[in-house]
Amino acid sequence: MAFESKIRTIQWIDNVSRMVDQTKVPYEYVTVDIKTGQEMFDAIQTMIVRGAPAIGIAGAHGVVLYAQELKKEGLSRDEFVKELIKKSEYLKTSRPTAVNLMWAVQKQIDVITSSDSDIDGIISELTQNAIRMEEEDISINKRIGDNGAEVVPKGATILTHCNAGALATVGYGTALGVVRSAFAKDNTVQVFSDETRPRQQGSRITTFELKMDGIPVTMITDGMCSYFMKKGMIDMVVVGADRIAANGDTANKIGTYTVAIAAKYHNIPFYIAAPLSTIDTSIKTGDEIPIEERSHEEVTHINGKRVCAEGINVINPGFDVTPHELITGIITEVGILKPDYNKSIAEAFNRK
Ligand code: MRU
Repeated sequence: MAFESKIRTIQWIDNVSRMVDQTKVPYEYVTVDIKTGQEMFDAIQTMIVRGAPAIGIAGAHGVVLYAQELKKEGLSRDEFVKELIKKSEYLKTSRPTAVNLMWAVQKQIDVITSSDSDIDGIISELTQNAIRMEEEDISINKRIGDNGAEVVPKGATILTHCNAGALATVGYGTALGVVRSAFAKDNTVQVFSDETRPRQQGSRITTFELKMDGIPVTMITDGMCSYFMKKGMIDMVVVGADRIAANGDTANKIGTYTVAIAAKYHNIPFYIAAPLSTIDTSIKTGDEIPIEERSHEEVTHINGKRVCAEGINVINPGFDVTPHELITGIITEVGILKPDYNKSIAEAFNRK
């Protein structure tokens, strides 16, 4: 049963990509129009748009924006195609961990290479493909939500980390899609949201979007999760994913691994919710997942104000990898995958 969310994170409209500026949430809830390919590269890198599925769609839009710009250069069709593929490959490098970005841009490259049309025709095919991917993202999330809701106990308190919500996708969300579908069936379900330092996607974005949709949420800091697990106040954990290896090892926001270890210790089910497009079957284990290293200032400063001594060492990996043996199940649009993940993931792709 689907819940109607008010949030639309990103949309192709009037030849631009209109997106919620997530660097401003929760202080402001405003959209920004991205009009060039380079603006899209920067929007992804600076996290105006963020969350694996959302940056996938942003990448698809970015290819259309590059195509629109290249058309104005008066190139031959062959030159246009060559340049557009080069720009698309560059767009894939805007962030390294979430595979949805590479997946979506590659889908656009496939449109370019398989097209027989002239330049205008290619642009039109790329636009249609991007719009189709947007709509698919919402329907896939609803299926993930409904599949996940089946394993949410009545009146459950669900812990989540980071934001795998409507604002991390086109709409509805993956982990928060499960919450939305569960809440539609049982309005006694509630969420505990980790703050998620250093970018605070939990406190800034997850709490904002759940409040907006009227779903009860309690914010905690990252270090508190095991405390509440021990007290018996958490019934299950559901988080999103940026990349899942063929064996089920899962990269998600830094701190997810700690939550998974705590959940295992306390015998609490720990679920990943993600579309099949987040699964990268070209890599065998999580050791091969590239982990983004972000600016040290994200750690040393909060809201532009330094919060630690000058001259200290800082390391700021954006993601960690949760080993497959800590994962109870991977909730996808084709069902909940269970261990042995090598087997269930391969079967899921066959079923698709
Ligand atoms: O750095 P971010 O905010 O892009 O990281 C987002 C996450 O880690 C999400 O949990 C993940 O992308 C899944 S979003 C449905």
